[in-house]
Amino acid sequence: MNGNNLKLAIQKKGRLTDKTLSLLRSSGIDIDNYSDRLTVSARNFDLDILFLRDDDIPEYVQDGVADIGVVGENVLLEKQSDVSLIKKLGYSRCRLMIASPNDFIYENLIQLEDKRIATSYPNILKKYLTENNVNAKIIDISGSVEIAPALGIADFICDIVSTGNTLKLHKLKTIEKVIDSEAVLISRNNITKDSTKNELLSKLVQRIESSITAKSSKYLMMNIPASSLENIKKIIPALKSPTVLPLADEGMLAVHAVIPNDLFWDIVDKLKSEGASGILIFPIENLIP
Ligand code: PRP
Ligand code: ZN
Repeated sequence: MNGNNLKLAIQKKGRLTDKTLSLLRSSGIDIDNYSDRLTVSARNFDLDILFLRDDDIPEYVQDGVADIGVVGENVLLEKQSDVSLIKKLGYSRCRLMIASPNDFIYENLIQLEDKRIATSYPNILKKYLTENNVNAKIIDISGSVEIAPALGIADFICDIVSTGNTLKLHKLKTIEKVIDSEAVLISRNNITKDSTKNELLSKLVQRIESSITAKSSKYLMMNIPASSLENIKKIIPALKSPTVLPLADEGMLAVHAVIPNDLFWDIVDKLKSEGASGILIFPIENLIP
């Protein structure tokens, strides 16, 4: 480790680990196999990675043990550490949900009044219950929350749901959503005062952003009748203005454009109805604005 390197804390083992490492790699950061090590340094960027328990990351970043960190919003909100949110990263999406036994007939939140809810997220749950004017007893447990109803120590649970498999396995069902969560990049508050580290952070964020945009976009090439150009420009999102090239056949044009993944089929269908043909789609490696 080098004192001038940017120190990034990430989850040691869990829902965020692999995706965070692959985001770093697709951002052009070369990281050694880390297997059981506590820290690794990037080979081509002044960055040290610290592998920590996700629950500890907000505090380590607050205290400056790490300069920046990647955590779930759920952990960030729960820990209430004094750190800055730099960027939502769009992966490891999940929801913090209140769940009941399968056979419970749920109508509304009033049914939770005076009941016991087991959770590892007491702060978030407390805020939610207060906002909804529900008085329930929060049972704060640190792990395996899903077994609390079967053990008779709680009536409901409030926990992270991603695939829903854990709930299913324990014969529980979701009844209310408390928050949505995804991976976020955080930094210590005073990082802007450290020009070296702040510069490294800006560089890293820029690389991450271009990698995220590239992954959420596709490059599209097609031939269109020249007479459709104006309509087709309207179909392709304005921001990403298309490249238009003439073809040997004068009535036809070749158009290249970047389109967002989530609108992909929608756009392709509309383009076809405007007479587009020979549509070719490519993945984008990187997109630098
Ligand atoms: C959460 C939660 C469940 C599981 C739900 O744990 O406590 O155990 O994920 O996921 P599923 O809906 O896909 O089954 P998490 O991974 O956050 O572990 P941690 O609390 O130990 O960090
Ligand atoms: Zn955790």
